Amino acid sequence: MPKWLEKAVFYEIYPQSFYDSNSDGIGDIPGIIEKLDYIKGLGCNALWLNPCYDSPFKDAGYDVRDYKKVATRYGTNEDLFRLFNEAHKRKMRVLLDMVPGHTSEEHPWFIESRKANPGKKNKNRYIWTNNFLSSGSDGLKFIAGESERDGCYCVNFFKCQPALNYGFQNPREKWQLPPTHPDCIATMEAIKDIMRFWLKGDNGRGCDGFRMDMAFTLVKAEDSERSATSAIWRNIRKMLDTEFPEAAMVSEWGSPSQAINAGFHADFMLELFEPNGYATLFRDFENGVDNSYFKKNSHGDINRFLSKYLPLYDATKKNGYISLVTGNHDLPRANRGLSARELALAYALIFTFPGVPFLYYGDEIGMRYINDLPSKEGGFYRTGSRTPMQWISKAAITAAPIPPEAASMGFSAAPAEQLYLPVDPDPDAPSVEIQEKDTESLLNTVRALLHLRQDNKDLNAKPNLEILYAGKYSDRCFIYRRGAFIITVNPDGKAVQVSFPIKKIPKLVYSIGTCNIDGGFYKMGPQSFSIWK
Ligand code: GLC
Ligand code: CA
Repeated sequence: MPKWLEKAVFYEIYPQSFYDSNSDGIGDIPGIIEKLDYIKGLGCNALWLNPCYDSPFKDAGYDVRDYKKVATRYGTNEDLFRLFNEAHKRKMRVLLDMVPGHTSEEHPWFIESRKANPGKKNKNRYIWTNNFLSSGSDGLKFIAGESERDGCYCVNFFKCQPALNYGFQNPREKWQLPPTHPDCIATMEAIKDIMRFWLKGDNGRGCDGFRMDMAFTLVKAEDSERSATSAIWRNIRKMLDTEFPEAAMVSEWGSPSQAINAGFHADFMLELFEPNGYATLFRDFENGVDNSYFKKNSHGDINRFLSKYLPLYDATKKNGYISLVTGNHDLPRANRGLSARELALAYALIFTFPGVPFLYYGDEIGMRYINDLPSKEGGFYRTGSRTPMQWISKAAITAAPIPPEAASMGFSAAPAEQLYLPVDPDPDAPSVEIQEKDTESLLNTVRALLHLRQDNKDLNAKPNLEILYAGKYSDRCFIYRRGAFIITVNPDGKAVQVSFPIKKIPKLVYSIGTCNIDGGFYKMGPQSFSIWK
């Protein structure tokens, strides 16, 4: 287990939309390098970059055409190596996004495999049926009629993303190979080879690990434990442990007990399969009524989250971490239903919980989810969470004509029509510039919380969570302990007091809203959060 994960707080960057350094309207790697000090200043000491490899961008880069080449629009491999170095100089880590399950249909492996008579190396690199009329079953998606080769190919997500072949757990058809088949092993080895390429970098020190895309599905038609896919991950983890023991693997699996058991260091608490409580915190849209815990005066209490989270936490705390996220490039931005104060309380919980937290770019200023944008690069509803980062304020724009970098809120000096996506049209759209100046802003709240976490071992990733109170009937308060710290949350609009036997009154370290301890009671003001030591 890489030690640095204990203190890690990640910042997820969607490279297209972060900062455009050469005025072509698309964010790029030199742009990320320019903003490293900003990220570090926030209290994040690690990055996760969405895929930045050569791609036709039909799924925003999750359709990889060349795993070993940075997409021209983001820069060069040298730029990415420079990013690793600059990050390391600042004691920051960088995770790349690895897409092990599928490639672009334009990847040379696939171009070869779709030929009438593919060469031996790529004949079984993807999953092909044996004729154009037979498509598989097992709930898999197959495409027919697109190739010289007589067969249908399996896709993982969009039509442009043919599934790499790791075999079937229990082959029933001739074209289904077992995971132990040499051609399936070769697929796994090809992925390891790409990982080594980026982990080594140009001088023996490259990236610090990977976020693994759709990690839960490599081997097809397997048992519900996903034991065959897990075996592949354990094999890959072994390679890391021997060759790159400092490297981390974080999975998009959404089932921490399976993922940690499969060798991942951390797994996202995402609801990819079934509700696991994450959405009840601040993304609850059940039955059209928002009962998110952090919604002021909603009807959701914290137990809906805890009843799912705690068993997962217990099952994984010895060998790995659960990652709570403020958002990501696939989720609607959290502020879709929440006010800035509600968001601040939600982040406060995420950043004071065990595990390795992730902050999605722009969430620190409460960037809005933009409704009804036309789909960009396969984004569909996700497009609204992928708009340009808002660096400078619109209010500052007085001079006419408005310079383009001001119109794009500091994202790019390209004319508006060239931007990857339009910036938030709201005249009051939040920005780093405005929030910097306001000590009470969401940005400064995030900073304060993350610095507190960085400075105090007890608030790091380690599993020292103890639940002290979880209101269910008369109030919705939540009180928990992390080592020497006691933390209280009251999401409601009315003040509440909860008795708690305290021998020695602790000191208030941080609070949002008003909180006191008095006469054996925690007195929690409306929509408050407090940390005591
Ligand atoms: C993951 C990514 C998502 C992508 C999909 C296919 O879920 O997060 O953005 O579209 O995998 O690669
Ligand atoms: Ca650019």
